[in-house]
Order: sequence, then structure tokens, then C-alpha cells
Amino acid sequence: MAFGVTATLTAAAMIGVGVVSWAHGSPAAAAQVLVASSGAKGPHHPLAAQRTQHASAPAHAAPATFVTHSAPATHATLVTHPVRAAHRVPTPPVAHAAKVNCKVKKCIALTFDDGPGPYTHKLLGELAAAKVEATFFLIGGNVGHYPSQVRAEVAGGHAVGNHSWSHPQLTLLSSSAVAREVTRTQAAIQHAAGVTPTLMRPPYGAVSPRVLGVLGQHHLAAVLWNVDTEDWKNRSVRITTQRALAGARPGAIILMHDIHPTTVRAVPGIIHALHERGYTLVTVPQLLGHVTPGHKYFNR
Ligand code: NI
Repeated sequence: MAFGVTATLTAAAMIGVGVVSWAHGSPAAAAQVLVASSGAKGPHHPLAAQRTQHASAPAHAAPATFVTHSAPATHATLVTHPVRAAHRVPTPPVAHAAKVNCKVKKCIALTFDDGPGPYTHKLLGELAAAKVEATFFLIGGNVGHYPSQVRAEVAGGHAVGNHSWSHPQLTLLSSSAVAREVTRTQAAIQHAAGVTPTLMRPPYGAVSPRVLGVLGQHHLAAVLWNVDTEDWKNRSVRITTQRALAGARPGAIILMHDIHPTTVRAVPGIIHALHERGYTLVTVPQLLGHVTPGHKYFNR
């Protein structure tokens, strides 16, 4: 299956998280299928991803250990209801935060990958309570399951970006396959929430000049990160918080994942501590300002 290559190459580490996917076939039919798959989370540091990319080491060929979601009941709910057609909605008015000048302020962008998912709603509530806007990099295959969450992200003033359709390592795909991953996700986000992203986060941070070229053709800039909480690995409120705060510096882009409940629980404390240290939390577009399609950015 499509995820096999990625899973093998990135098996160095981890325990995958199953995601519900209707990537193959019609939404209604494929929604019956739970795929324990694409979450084979590889190194989420850009440099680590590059190492993986060049590694021929058999060490990376250790079999991946997959686990399905530990709460199948939750997902049973998902798959027994027909996937509701997401209606095209006009771009909602976004309550833009007062213009922040990140040349003057100490700005940091919190980013959340791999959603939308079952915990996104709770995270949005925490962000709203703290009056903080963040950036969500969405998996196209998950968007159709939670279209209302995507709309809520946009309505809440958050930025949404593209994180591919099925989370492959893009550097291993043909250019046409990369384009499909990207355009299918753009269409899903547009369909769900009426907006078209201009930012793309490549899974595992894996990019190459060729991949960047494809992204540029589709008017997307690549946004990586310079602070990795490794929340997908530690699944610990304490460690995720420690890593976020240890990496905090002006202009930082912090990587987290809203598909993990520990991450969602960590966020209020992270926000509180960053505010106490004088940081202003902004979206990636607010942090970076103008970006050039086909270029990559790690921080401000
Ligand atoms: Ni990801």
C-alpha cells in the first residue's frame, strides 16, 4: 500500500498512529476502512529527515510497529455515519489580531500538524480562551472527516496550511505524485472551509529542490520549524512543555501535533509560560510576512 515505503524508511523509531482515511475510493465506501498507517512518524526534525533521506542503513529498515487508535469506539462513530458532504462556504470574515510587528515584538508561532482530528475542537477552545492564534497544517485525508473543525480554525483567525494528502515523504515520490498530494489537499481544504493555503509543511520536513519546485508551481511555500517538541514521541505534557519552552526564542516556529491529547493538555501551560516571558504568539503568516512560493522557511 501507499504507505509502505514511508513506513519502512522511517521505521527507525516509531509507533504509528492510525488515521481514518478515505484516500482510496469514494468517501462513503472508504470511510468504512480504518487504515493504521500513515502515522509512521519519521524524524520530525528537518536535519534528521535529511539524514533519513540519504540513509541506506538497514538500521532504518526495522519493521515499523503500528498501533491503531486505542479508542476504537470513538472511531466507530466516525465510520458508521456517512461522510457528510461539506458545503462550500464563503471565506468567513477573519478577526485578524491587531497587527503585530515581529521586527519589534518577540514573536513565536505555534504550529499543529496532522489534523484535523478528534482533539482539534478542544485545542481550539484552549486557544480561544487564551486569545492566541496558531497555524494548522492539515492532512487532506483527514479534512473530510472534520470539515467543521477546519471551518472553526479559519473562523477563529488561525492559519491553515497543507500537510499533504497521506503524509508520505515527498522526496521519495515522483513530481506528479507530489503534485497530486498537494492539489488534492488544497481542494479538500477549499471545499471544507473556502480558503486555499499558501503554506505547505512537508511531512518529516523532507524537501529537495525538486519538491520545492513542485510546491512553487502550486503557489506554496514550504514551512518547516526550528523547535521540535517531539510530542508525538514523548506523549507527555511535561516533556512537550519543557521542549517547547527550551526552544523558545524570538522568531521561532514550534512544531506540535493536535492529534495527541497530551499535546492539547500541554498547550495552555505553554502559552502561559511564553506570555510570561514576553512573547507574542502569532500565526506563521504573521511571523514570516511575505513568503516566496517554492522557498523554505524554518523560522523568522
Ligand atoms: Ni506530520
